[in-house]
Amino acid sequence: MTADYTIVDHTYDVVVVGAGGAGLRATLGMAEKGLSTACVTKVFPTRSHTVAAQGGMSAALGNMGEDSWQWHMYDTVKGSDWLGDQDAIEYMCREAVPAVIELEHSGVPFSRTDEGTIYQRPFGGMTTHFGKGTAQRTCAAADRTGHAILHTLYQRSLAEKAEFFIEYFALDLIMEDGECRGIVAWELATGTLHRFRAQQVVLATGGYGRSYFSCTSAHTCTGDGNGMVLRAGLPLQDMEFVQFHPTGIYGAGCLITEGVRGEGGYLTNSEGERFMERYAPNAKDLASRDVVSRAMTIEIREGRGVGANSDHIHLNLQHLGPEVINERLPGIAESARIFAGVDVTKEPIPVIPTVHYNMGGIQTNYRGEVVTLDGDDPDAVVPGLMAIGEAACVSVHGANRLGSNSLLDIVVFGRAAAIRAAELIEPGATQRPLREGSSDWIIERFDRLRHADGGTSTSELRDRMQATMQANAAVFRTEELLAEGSEKMNEIYRAFADVRVADRSLIWNTDLVETLELENLLGCAVTTVDSALNRKESRGGHAREDYADRDDDNWMKHTLCWVDPENGGTRIDYRPVHMYTLTDEVETIPPKQRVY
Ligand code: FUM
Repeated sequence: MTADYTIVDHTYDVVVVGAGGAGLRATLGMAEKGLSTACVTKVFPTRSHTVAAQGGMSAALGNMGEDSWQWHMYDTVKGSDWLGDQDAIEYMCREAVPAVIELEHSGVPFSRTDEGTIYQRPFGGMTTHFGKGTAQRTCAAADRTGHAILHTLYQRSLAEKAEFFIEYFALDLIMEDGECRGIVAWELATGTLHRFRAQQVVLATGGYGRSYFSCTSAHTCTGDGNGMVLRAGLPLQDMEFVQFHPTGIYGAGCLITEGVRGEGGYLTNSEGERFMERYAPNAKDLASRDVVSRAMTIEIREGRGVGANSDHIHLNLQHLGPEVINERLPGIAESARIFAGVDVTKEPIPVIPTVHYNMGGIQTNYRGEVVTLDGDDPDAVVPGLMAIGEAACVSVHGANRLGSNSLLDIVVFGRAAAIRAAELIEPGATQRPLREGSSDWIIERFDRLRHADGGTSTSELRDRMQATMQANAAVFRTEELLAEGSEKMNEIYRAFADVRVADRSLIWNTDLVETLELENLLGCAVTTVDSALNRKESRGGHAREDYADRDDDNWMKHTLCWVDPENGGTRIDYRPVHMYTLTDEVETIPPKQRVY
């Protein structure tokens, strides 16, 4: 079988899979440290989903008022509903400051204050003095911050002579005795397969928003790294925690940045009421996303939604005036015009909570190394494998991510992976040959799917998966909904054995690309719904109507979920939350009652 394919072999110190913000920051850092670095990506780097990140990147610079990384850490622990690992959160909030300054010096065109420093806007859940004041902490390049960061990082990586393999689809990890030795990828333009051997593989493949029907994620967000990890027999962590962004455009799903509310925008129901004042008297429209999404859903359920079907909410920014909108929010004015037909200087934008971010993913430590449960050790490092960005679960976001902590996460942990790789790897060190046949199963799987001749099309299965996730793993969850979702998702997972691929060619075979992506999404979907069914409490983005309270006695722990590749059944175990800090410059933050 392998003889039927042309296989090109490569050896690098490091292979990074994915060229979004996390992948590019890692690629740049590795290359700067003298490591030969290949970045393998299925889309052109500047088309990666980071390009869609609008509002900004948090860092306690204190440019627009007093701030400290300890306050940022407090907010992030609280935002995570105490499921975040406090050592990793300390690392992220502390390193935010040098990380953003490095970006500035690399050329990211941040918006400026009158004094010439980086402009920072308020974002949900970001406070001063441990919850008492409002922080202006989110560093912004108008409402195109991800776009600005991505272009700068790509240019800097090219300058450092990182090598890019663009429009290559990474198929699977080459594992030998629990160690990652490389990957196999398919070059879409030529149809050849490429085997990359490396001292470290870094997965930076993004989230899996496309397992849902309506999401703000690009069509490329198909959980490819998560799928590879599951097939390597490793678990995914905290998959039940899916974030709904309060303001996706009604009908289209596109993101309208939280920066709109940061600049003074607000939500209203059909009675014209600013209803967030009832749900979160202190934070109001800038409460954390789980709180705002739930409040909007309740307003709609209780008949106070707007529109002909009373099924969405209004986001008002008319009062900000054209000057502020044109200077700080030009991108969303354009999106609202194109996707909702609305002139934001005159009318509100119709919005609805929309799947936006996956808190769960590949379990790692704060250095970016993939870890797993090994006997009594919940944090055993998987040699040769790292994961960063939305694909990873560090876990800094715990049960709910604060807005603008995602661009921060990708930059800080992309950088951390490079720092760690430079400690672990000798540049150019001789690598032992790959074991005979260690990648054969990958090529066999690829060939099997290429010739799949079952009775169900890829799009049919994808529709069923997306409809099930949208209906059965939404903002509010119950035992009944989740049990039904689990049964359906496991059945859809098994139905993949009957998939049909119509196109057998090797060059730009998008039918096969979508089928490979679907298998990755199915692994993510089934672990999400089974982990959600298992967790009998409400925490962050996981809101159970039948278990309305957070239950720290029984559920202050991370979920680990494995998939049996044969029948799709899942297995669940747990890992303790890190309730300790890295240094004595900050105290651990004990769980508190929720006050918004
Ligand atoms: O609303 C936003 O601009 C999104 C930011 C984020 O998810 O961090």
